[in-house]
Amino acid sequence: MLDSWFYVSLKYMVLMFVFFIGMAILVIVFLYIIDKTQTRHTIRRNFPVIGRFRWIFEHLGEFFRQYFFAGDREELPFNRAQRTWVYKAAKNNNNTVAFGSTRNLDRRGAMIFLNCPFPVMKKDAVEADKLLIGPYAKQPYKSPSFFNISAMSFGALSMPAIQSLSHGAKKAGIWMNTGEGGISPYHLEGGCDIVYQFGTAKYGARNSEGGFDFDKLKEIGQIPQVKMIELKMAQGAKPGKGGILPAAKVTEEIANIRGIPAGEASISPNRHPEIKNVTQLLDMVNKIRDASGLPVGFKMVMGGDDWLHELFTEIHQRGIESAPDFITLDSGDGGTGAAPQSLMDDVGMVIKESLPMLVDLRNEYGLKDRVRIMTSGKLITPAEVAWALCAGADFINNARGFLFSLGCIQALKCNKNTCPTGITTHDPDLHQGLVVENKTKRVANFAKSMVKEVGVIAHACGVTEPRALKRSHVRMVFSNSISKPLNVLFPDKKSQYD
Ligand SMILES: Cc1cc2nc3c(=O)[nH]c(=O)nc-3n(C[C@H](O)[C@H](O)[C@H](O)COP(=O)(O)O)c2cc1C
Repeated sequence: MLDSWFYVSLKYMVLMFVFFIGMAILVIVFLYIIDKTQTRHTIRRNFPVIGRFRWIFEHLGEFFRQYFFAGDREELPFNRAQRTWVYKAAKNNNNTVAFGSTRNLDRRGAMIFLNCPFPVMKKDAVEADKLLIGPYAKQPYKSPSFFNISAMSFGALSMPAIQSLSHGAKKAGIWMNTGEGGISPYHLEGGCDIVYQFGTAKYGARNSEGGFDFDKLKEIGQIPQVKMIELKMAQGAKPGKGGILPAAKVTEEIANIRGIPAGEASISPNRHPEIKNVTQLLDMVNKIRDASGLPVGFKMVMGGDDWLHELFTEIHQRGIESAPDFITLDSGDGGTGAAPQSLMDDVGMVIKESLPMLVDLRNEYGLKDRVRIMTSGKLITPAEVAWALCAGADFINNARGFLFSLGCIQALKCNKNTCPTGITTHDPDLHQGLVVENKTKRVANFAKSMVKEVGVIAHACGVTEPRALKRSHVRMVFSNSISKPLNVLFPDKKSQYD
């Protein structure tokens, strides 16, 4: 009885095996014919069937490299050591490491902070000063934190991502920039301070012709949470190109908030049509400040600096109250939801060079206390933030660090609607893993840990608070392990206006 059952099972298994082998051969023959006869792909036509593995491995390679092959300090835009620091900070895990640094301090561009023989003791440490922004605006802003959330729109980011950032920002006492997609209810629901950004399409304050609606702007200025307005001229990842939101991400709700048709790609003009010189830029800054009553600044990426000389000269001609209240300097290697690769890779200076340049120019024109400088660009670990403070930034904005705190795994899919962590997709199935309550805590932990550890660097350098860090506190390696202090590479310039 048992024997006959065994032989019947074996017979079926053999039949199934033959069936599957037969099917596999049929599929291979079928694919062979398709590959051989198609005319679009060279490799598939020359190497039918096996040529297809190239695409499969190319896709899987992304994952294999990240998990198995890449060293801790190898990947771009952010290596594993940087990401791990953020993940641990966000989870409030022990952020100490053992045995010794894996960082190559001989590498060109490495920074070395100059410790003081008599570090500041914990009891003598103080919090960073609160800086006033926009002294001539009707409602100036005294910002509680030097580390804040950089512009990312509802559209580029999902609803739960924006909600988590909003609640997390409130918990940490930092501000959140709306990005250029307008203000959504999700930005406001956490109760944090908001910087309203508009880009070339003026989402959120747009009239039917796509120009500025100053009445809407007035309404925005009356929302108590909105503390400042940022006019976006350029973004590091795509200077000279406006916002790009792929059609798959333009849902009904996002389309309503932006005032555009749903399901169609949202492409903004590549410049503000009404701003084509520094005079028009200053006019616009002043009109917006008058209409909203809020401090107003602009976001830019450094290319040439002649126009900045013109701008600062014209500010002095008009009177310093006409100046923008802040300038946000983005780095050429900044992030984005979507950008053309040539702009992302090759256009716009990085802040390692452009930040000291901009700070020097502003100071040369005697505008240090009038125009605050904010900066962003891969400042996701305490050392990088401390460097930017040494270079002269008043505020540090961070985008992708906060995405890591939300659980981003650097899958590089922000331009699709398929982000596996639910952060940059509007697919509700993928939102399930992004639990707002939990991510709120991580966003807040990341911000607080950052501020605390920048303080640790400041105290090691012998100053009581992060904003007291100066260029003389950091050396930059420029070749063969030879470094120079930042104040030698970029010496302070005297101002003719002081
Ligand atoms: C998903 C995503 C969306 C972004 N959206 C905007 C935007 O709407 N407006 C803007 O000025 N910058 C935008 N940025 C750029 C960031 O605000 C920031 O300037 C840049 O990423 C550099 O900072 P980081 O290195 O801390 O990410 C976006 C960046 C990312 C990653």
